[in-house]
Amino acid sequence: MDGNGRWATARSLPRAAGHRQGAQAVRRTVTAACRLGVSTLTLYAFSSDNWKRPGAEVSALMMLFRRYLVQEIEQCRREGIRLSVIGRRDRLPADLIPLIESAEQSTSAGNRLHLRLAVDYSSRDAILAAAEKARTREEMGALLGPDVDLLIRTAGEQRLSDYLLWECAYAEFHFTGQLWPDFNQASLEAAIGDFQNRVRRFGAVIHPKPAA
Ligand code: IPE
Ligand code: MG
Repeated sequence: MDGNGRWATARSLPRAAGHRQGAQAVRRTVTAACRLGVSTLTLYAFSSDNWKRPGAEVSALMMLFRRYLVQEIEQCRREGIRLSVIGRRDRLPADLIPLIESAEQSTSAGNRLHLRLAVDYSSRDAILAAAEKARTREEMGALLGPDVDLLIRTAGEQRLSDYLLWECAYAEFHFTGQLWPDFNQASLEAAIGDFQNRVRRFGAVIHPKPAA
């Protein structure tokens, strides 16, 4: 989810206004993902490097996260959305912890969409922690999460920024110049359409089917 700041700046608004619009885009995209039959959606909400941002911006982001946990969970539960939060919890505002735990618990039976929010997330840190326990690729996968099929990066950036590094081993990448606050169902459809045109070989050779 990138481009909130640029969206706001282009309108002479404070960056926090861009983050608020970004939260609307989260709601739209989660609904769209459900409609389109996506099984797992992981959103990069706040990276471990985002602590370097000004305190006021960090607070605004934490407030939006708090609000999401309070306002959206009942609807998630009703719609069969299971929410998980990945990343470190020990540096988050203390009041968020029980909210996260209760959101995860009350949506744990959801089987329509697994929505994973990455907050204070660093893939390198996640890999280091998992590698202390795991001895095989399968054990690493079980600790980190499923392999990513499609990674979407908005706002014209073309880098991973410490996101799902292990899980993206064979991910297909979709880059769009669209800013995150403008992201909508059509954007997700376009990304999935792009994905469906990729030939995934996973390192093997695939012989083209002879024409019928
Ligand atoms: C949202 O976009 C990212 C986060 C929620 C941390 P940015 O805040 O990175 O927006 P830009 O890159 O400055 O436009
Ligand atoms: Mg950015």
